[in-house]
Amino acid sequence: MAGHDDGKAVANGIPPPPFQLPTPDSPDVITANMFKLTELTPDDRKRFLLRNLVAHLHSFVRETSLTTAEWDQTIKFLTRVGQTCTPIRQEFILLSDVLGVSALVDAINNPPENGATESSVLGPFFTEDAPDVANGDSIASEGKGEYMYVEGRVLSVDGTPIPNATVETWETDANGFYDTQYTTRDRPDCRGRLHSDQDGHFGYRAVVPVAYPIPGDGPVGDLLLGIGRHNMRPNHLHLMIEAPGYRKLTTAFYPEGDLYLESDAVFGVKKSLVVKLQTIKDEAEARKRGFPKGDTFKLLQRDIILVPEDLAAKAFKEKAEAAAKNAAVSL
Ligand SMILES: [Fe+2]
Repeated sequence: MAGHDDGKAVANGIPPPPFQLPTPDSPDVITANMFKLTELTPDDRKRFLLRNLVAHLHSFVRETSLTTAEWDQTIKFLTRVGQTCTPIRQEFILLSDVLGVSALVDAINNPPENGATESSVLGPFFTEDAPDVANGDSIASEGKGEYMYVEGRVLSVDGTPIPNATVETWETDANGFYDTQYTTRDRPDCRGRLHSDQDGHFGYRAVVPVAYPIPGDGPVGDLLLGIGRHNMRPNHLHLMIEAPGYRKLTTAFYPEGDLYLESDAVFGVKKSLVVKLQTIKDEAEARKRGFPKGDTFKLLQRDIILVPEDLAAKAFKEKAEAAAKNAAVSL
């Protein structure tokens, strides 16, 4: 490592600040000095973020009279969160999810727009290897759960059909597991990628997803236990829709009636994303839809409305400027 070869520690080369700072020997001076030092940050946006972070973080410590033991416990907890991360497990995302931060960032970056379909959290179970399926085909292998047919159109906010939009979709099986949670996984299942046709239509066979617990065997699981919260997500079907010229949409549909709809552990549910599953009991209809057995399936019908990219960028810029005006500290 640099600095070890010749036995000397290496400074980062930045000189002392070009202004005088009082000795930080009281809480107020510590905060004031930290604020003053943010002036050195060359990038406007970074400086703005840093000043707000310092304002809120220092206020938190001050207002709660945080004890040394509590801060020590917090550092130990965050250390465990980091140590729990692996190439296929991201405990920091989970922490952000259960604290509502992921949902908040998503909501701020994807505000409801002109009747467009609202976004929802991506979650940790998206994979790059979903197979291509034709319109009308199945994303789930036989025996994975109760039959469900999903259909709708991909439209622009003005109602124009969007042909050839990519619809990526993934879900749990009837056990509440994604395919990646099985150690025996030898190929993707309950996930697929299809494209809308010339009129914007898409449709596919799937299974009714079920509610499932987010991972409870790490520090985030311990946190939820300690603060008296369950770790369940209501059942949902993930979708990610992309079409050239439109804002990419990551969302999910939440069948109504789930016990955990209002208390989703990761705050993903929005009222407009709650859907009704119709029960279709008709053998001919089941065969027509390609279901190999029985006479009953659930039907989820929902159009997906995308926002043109230029419209989305303009709306975000306006909202960010308005929020900055109301921020705790200015540039
Ligand atoms: Fe999920």
